[in-house]
Amino acid sequence: MSHQAIYRKFRPKIFDDVLGQEHVTRTLKNQILTGNIAHAYLFSGIRGTGKTSTAKIFSRAVNCLDNHDGNPCNECEICKSILDETNMDVIEMDAASNNGVEDIRELRDKVQFLPVKSKYKVYIIDEVHMLSKGAFNALLKTLEEPPDHLLFILATTEPQKIPATILSRCQRFDLKRIKSSVIVENMEKICHEIGIEYEEKALKLIAANSEGAMRDALSILDRCVSFNDKIDYETVMDLLGTVNYQVVAKAADYIIDKDIKNTMLLVDNILNMGKEITIFLDELIMCFRNMLIVKTTGSTDNIIRISEEEAEELKKTSSKIPVDDLVNVIEELSDAQLECKRALNPRVMLETKLIKLLRSENSSSIKELSRKIEELENNIKNSGFSKINNSGKPVVKKYEPEKTIDVAQHETKMQEHAVTVENRQTSEPETEKNRTYGNKSDEEIKNEIANGWQSILKKVRSENAGLQAIIRESKLKEVSNKKIVFEFDPKFTFHINAANQPKNKLQFKKILSGILNEDCEIEFVVKKNKKSDKPEQTMEDVYEGLKKEFGEEIVEFKQED
Ligand SMILES: Nc1ncnc2c1ncn2[C@@H]1O[C@H](COP(=O)(O)OP(=O)(O)OP(=O)(O)O)[C@@H](O)[C@H]1O
Ligand SMILES: [Mg+2]
Ligand SMILES: [Zn+2]
Repeated sequence: MSHQAIYRKFRPKIFDDVLGQEHVTRTLKNQILTGNIAHAYLFSGIRGTGKTSTAKIFSRAVNCLDNHDGNPCNECEICKSILDETNMDVIEMDAASNNGVEDIRELRDKVQFLPVKSKYKVYIIDEVHMLSKGAFNALLKTLEEPPDHLLFILATTEPQKIPATILSRCQRFDLKRIKSSVIVENMEKICHEIGIEYEEKALKLIAANSEGAMRDALSILDRCVSFNDKIDYETVMDLLGTVNYQVVAKAADYIIDKDIKNTMLLVDNILNMGKEITIFLDELIMCFRNMLIVKTTGSTDNIIRISEEEAEELKKTSSKIPVDDLVNVIEELSDAQLECKRALNPRVMLETKLIKLLRSENSSSIKELSRKIEELENNIKNSGFSKINNSGKPVVKKYEPEKTIDVAQHETKMQEHAVTVENRQTSEPETEKNRTYGNKSDEEIKNEIANGWQSILKKVRSENAGLQAIIRESKLKEVSNKKIVFEFDPKFTFHINAANQPKNKLQFKKILSGILNEDCEIEFVVKKNKKSDKPEQTMEDVYEGLKKEFGEEIVEFKQED
């Protein structure tokens, strides 16, 4: 084939060829049909979506002697002269190179003359945002009192750089990113026309990497054509060089799912293909950033550089992760990127950082933990004691008849509650009901717990990490009549109260009964420690302990009033 680039060869010739911009072309065709033409138009939108093409088509359509349903015929004398650039009435200016006041002044002088042979004198000013301030002012003068025969068509990727005074005098049309499916369809048509074989997934990959810009897609296609006599997936992957969008999206998905194994496999794959770590991280960060934007604004227009379909995918993926966690992932990945640039072995650094990120607690689960702690705090407050004295008996701080209850009463209330919860539960799962229990002696139970303490804790941890942190501070005191008594050192005020929470107690009882295969009762008591000369524990001490347990950032100290 010739050397002409595909995207030039296949420039849309009529409005109906401009794909994915029907909202623009329909209106323009209508204006042609009704003769309702404005003096100035502005076509804006991202690169390669059809701005210049639409401007050129419009310049012919307004002058065409035989338009078809608003489209230029491209056959009449006028259309032909515009197409072969011999028509003096249609002037194309590139503001990037003619951006001075002089250029526009010259234009101003010329616009006064009537068109030579066409109905309209058309000025297409491409990349109009490049005009200097003086040139914009000069242009404004013309736009303020345009002669009837004059038509300005401005095009830009950066409408925000155009003065409001100009904008307000233009009819503005925004061209959108083009859907991947439309891009793929167009490429298929072109491949048929130039007679080249293709794999559909290769075209999809090209489209996914074109960010909704048709010209970008056609340029990649062009490179593939000159590279290979068939457009296949491998060639496209090789040519793109960067990590392709779908792979990045997949990686993001694995990261959200905290799927370490697949994340590592994918990273291994990407790096083995010779992709740059920093480029991969760049694209991964961009992907999470897009998710954040989609999630927080709900909008995909213009803010993010992906097609509608990709945005839909992103929406789905992002629904699995809370905003706080997204922010955290972006921060961690940005951090990883910096470190990778400095690291002697960037690959190891990347893998380590990813594993660390995937193993960390989500901020949402941290929040959940904080909520539970707060709940426990409130329970301590409401139960009327906040300190425990040396004898191990809780001390009622202040006598408040409604709120304060006797500890023994509190205990029985908890027990009652536990029993009702338990009754409710036993009627539920079939397995629970049918469970048969053994018949061990107290001594046997005691030994089994003492010997298997670590695995008991492990089991508790697997079901409820918070509960394990509480239970592990207790010691087995005695077993009598299948009642297992655990004791806490008086300094573990928080822990004993938490352990006695009906929900916690019941859960521990169930786990322990399961392990021992014995239906047993549980009791948590404070260790009697008469000789202790340790000072009384304050809430601050308890919080210090908590901070050590859960980490500074999770535990928030709230001063009691
Ligand atoms: N909407 C579209 N439908 C069909 N082809 C398109 C479309 N947009 C762009 N193309 C293809 O891309 C080429 C370049 O398009 P055009 O110059 O109109 O884009 P543009 O929006 O002006 O880009 P830029 O912002 O870079 O100036 C066209 O020749 C055509 O091959
Ligand atoms: Mg253009
Ligand atoms: Zn014509």
